[in-house]
Amino acid sequence: YRDRVIAPSLLAADFSRVREEVTRAINAGADWLHLDVMDGHFVDNISFGPAMVQAVHETNDIYLDVHLMVSRPDHYLPRFVAAGADLITVHVEAGHDVDSTLRKIRDAGCKAGLAINPATPLEAALPHLAHADLLLCMTVVPGFGGQAFMPEVLPKIEAAVKWREEQGLAFHIEVDGGIDALTAARCAKAGANVMVAGSSTFKAPDMAAAIRQIREA
Ligand code: DX5
Ligand code: ZN
Repeated sequence: YRDRVIAPSLLAADFSRVREEVTRAINAGADWLHLDVMDGHFVDNISFGPAMVQAVHETNDIYLDVHLMVSRPDHYLPRFVAAGADLITVHVEAGHDVDSTLRKIRDAGCKAGLAINPATPLEAALPHLAHADLLLCMTVVPGFGGQAFMPEVLPKIEAAVKWREEQGLAFHIEVDGGIDALTAARCAKAGANVMVAGSSTFKAPDMAAAIRQIREA
């Protein structure tokens, strides 16, 4: 959790050329690929499901960071495991037995992440973090790419770092939403190490430069 990880979000890619877009991200220096799964129920948008995860998995071996913005994430888990996810992140707000879901993810051989929306207090996640490999602090209200970063989330990141130290834990802290070199610097200062970035990477004129700037921020 001390290493800086840059995870471009496929949501901002050209869906008509997914293979080329993933290759472009890898060649530009991406560490992980972030895959936003939206069900039109937990969030007000529909993106893609396990078939997309599998299609990416079959063409590349980049680490797949699957962000499930779906209701009943426990119900869909096995399909994302089978599709080739390396890390599966579920929302604390999604209506499931969080500890049991995290355990199922780990038992399936994947890393387990827990996400909290900007309006959700960190306290909702704390009891579960001993069973998680990553805490995702959403820096926008999930559902759409290209939204503005919410700086009010920064104190939550600082509090998560403090909790991690006090409890002797080692989970990554990931931020997602409105991340570019400027906001990544603020998140890194607060203690986040995994930077998800959609628009600022895939839509940049020079993706490698954009990733480098986020890494060095
Ligand atoms: C938001 C998604 C994000 C999104 C980020 O609901 O979880 O991963 O793709 O997009 P940008 O970086 O454009 O804010
Ligand atoms: Zn995401």
